[in-house]
Order: sequence, then C-alpha cells, then structure tokens
Amino acid sequence: MRRPFVAGNWKMHGSRAENAQLLDGLVQGLPAQASADIAVCPPFVYLWETARVLKSSAIGVGAQSVCAESIGAFTGEVAASMLKDVGCTYVIVGHSERRAIYREDDALVARKFLASQSQGLIPILCVGETLEEREQGHTTEVVSRQLAAVLDVAGISALDTAVVAYEPVWAIGTGKTATPEQAQEVHAHIRGEVARRDAKIAAELRIVYGGSVKAANAREIFAKPDVDGGLIGGASLKADEFLKICAAAQAH
Ligand code: 13P
Repeated sequence: MRRPFVAGNWKMHGSRAENAQLLDGLVQGLPAQASADIAVCPPFVYLWETARVLKSSAIGVGAQSVCAESIGAFTGEVAASMLKDVGCTYVIVGHSERRAIYREDDALVARKFLASQSQGLIPILCVGETLEEREQGHTTEVVSRQLAAVLDVAGISALDTAVVAYEPVWAIGTGKTATPEQAQEVHAHIRGEVARRDAKIAAELRIVYGGSVKAANAREIFAKPDVDGGLIGGASLKADEFLKICAAAQAH
C-alpha cells in the first residue's frame, strides 16, 4: 500500500508573520496519527524558520528548487547540502514555472534531481504538458520524455526515494483542474513507463497530482487508483483548506 503524500508549494508567497500563523494552524489541526506524509515548501529564506517550527511535528519541509552544482561561485543559488543543513527533507525539481519562466530544460532538471539525492533529499519531480501539447495529443509523449530525461541519468532505482508529481500546466493556478479521469489516465501512463523498467518500483512509487486542487475536488481526484496525493499551490496557503486536502488524501 502506498502512503499518500501531500505537499504545499507556497511558491513566492508569505511573510514571517503570515507563515507563523499558517504553520500554527497546520500544527494545531493535523491529527497526531496522520496516515499520510505531509510537507510544506516555503521560499528559501523561510526554510530554516519553518523547519524549526515544525521540528517536533509530523510535517516535513521541502524547498521549491535547488542548484544543480554542489558548491562554488553561483551567485543567487542554493545548494542541496544547504537545504539539508537547514532541515529540508524534500525538494521540488522541474516545476513547470521553473521550466517555462527560467528556461530549465530536461537535462538541468535531471542534474537537480541528482544533486538532491546526493544529499539525501527526496526530489518531487514535476512533469506535465501545456495546453497546446494536450490539444495536439502529445500529453503522454511529453511526460514520458520528461521522466526519461531523469531516469536515463539517475537510473530506475532512483525512484525508490523520489515522488513524481503530474502537474498539467493548463491546470496550474487557473482553477481548471484536470478531471479525475484525465489525472488517472496520465498517472497510469507514468506508472506504466516506470513498470517497463521495474515493476516493484512502479508499484511503490508515489505519483501525486497538482493543478487547482482544492478541498472541494481533492477527494474525487485522490480516489483514483494511481493518484497518491497532491502537490498543492494556492490552496496550501490557508491552513483550513490545506488540512481538508490532507484529510482527503488520508481517507484512501
Ligand atoms: P495551484 O494549486 O495553485 O494550481 O498550483 C499547483 C502547483 O503548481 C503546485 O506545484
């Protein structure tokens, strides 16, 4: 049985005061015996404080990105070892906003994935197609390519300690969520791609969905057999809403 995973990607939101309130709400509201792995991914500058606040809670901390290099003259970048040092467990790699706005290509995403695992961090590898790619019927081809770029350099066993997030670009921040059937179709495809290489790793891999997940639609999406939780943007900024989504994941 795969343990559900729900992570909040705060993106570039928050302040010390807002974060304190949000984290307090999460710590107070999360049942002690949560049957899902829960994490929050604040902006870099808040990671240390967030990890400190969550230290004795069951909520993990993740970064939203990482440098592919390990140390040196890379102004503005943050190394995986530093994320580990301040208490991160997870790191998002290949988010579509990084791919589209900051031109991160498949090869760079693969290097970031490797850099994360080299420090014992669990990468949350994001894959997903644009609206244009979906309309042209290229969805499965795109996610296969994005996945293969990582597996070709990291090897299939790297997925033993990773999470894959399917995030259709057209569903991110748009309020247009994929239907549970659309999500299931792509999740099953991803699991199938992994199974071609290793059936056991495929069966144990957590594949979460991201894109306009809210308390109101989480349950039906998470009910699908190959959907193991969610990567939540906007709805992770409100404690009540995020807790309801976490509860929906635990119901399965
Ligand atoms: P929204 O939940 O705001 O659509 O964002 C999804 C996302 O990009 C999570 O990484």
